[in-house]
Amino acid sequence: MATMDELKKAAGVRAADMIKDGMTVGLGTGSTAAHMVNRLAERIKTEGLSVTGVSTSWSTTLQCRSLGIPLKEMGEVSHLDMVIDGADEIDDNKNLIKGRGAAHLLEKIVASMTDNYVIIADSGKKVNKLGEKFAVPLEIIPGAIAIVTERVKKLGGDLKVRMGAPGKDGPVISDSGNLIADAKFGIIEDPDKLARDLEHIVGIVGHGLFVGLVTKVILADAEKGLVEF
Ligand code: A5P
Repeated sequence: MATMDELKKAAGVRAADMIKDGMTVGLGTGSTAAHMVNRLAERIKTEGLSVTGVSTSWSTTLQCRSLGIPLKEMGEVSHLDMVIDGADEIDDNKNLIKGRGAAHLLEKIVASMTDNYVIIADSGKKVNKLGEKFAVPLEIIPGAIAIVTERVKKLGGDLKVRMGAPGKDGPVISDSGNLIADAKFGIIEDPDKLARDLEHIVGIVGHGLFVGLVTKVILADAEKGLVEF
């Protein structure tokens, strides 16, 4: 039986093998995306591929630097040939919850630059309805934390600021200098409506609901192998 990490690697390798010479590619964050980045680096070395990455976090940037993958700054580009990323929950409509690693704002900016957005994950990420396992990660301007907490409560959500322990005392601060919080809504019946409601709250600069963005999901399942939809 394949381990969870082997499943993540299988999905990451499949997606990295879809990258073509000359592409500029958005590179996601997390353990599954890290496998994809490793495979891309291998292909650049062995096949001489010319690929430029756009990273979604410091974590991925440091990995790319250590592997010699050329990067462009996010702010230099407005279109990407392809974006590959992981997810925390995936429903049948390819809607997602993302942000376990606090990278969801930058991940969404990069995702919005392509019409070829590929999600890679182990099959444990598949849910019937979003919210089954995960709260919705939010990125919040620090001075707005009180009003955002109150407004999220009005929408039926229970918001908790995410803490950094064991790596940092106090709250998790995003790569853009904002607070990260997790809002529990329970099962989300209408992700599109909740996404729009959250976008109307001043002080939230990003949320982890990704609705209508994904082109393809590659799920690695211990019994079925790689499943694409
Ligand atoms: C990062 O903030 C998240 O959106 C990740 O993409 C997500 O948590 C997937 O991570 P794993 O591949 O480690 O499960």
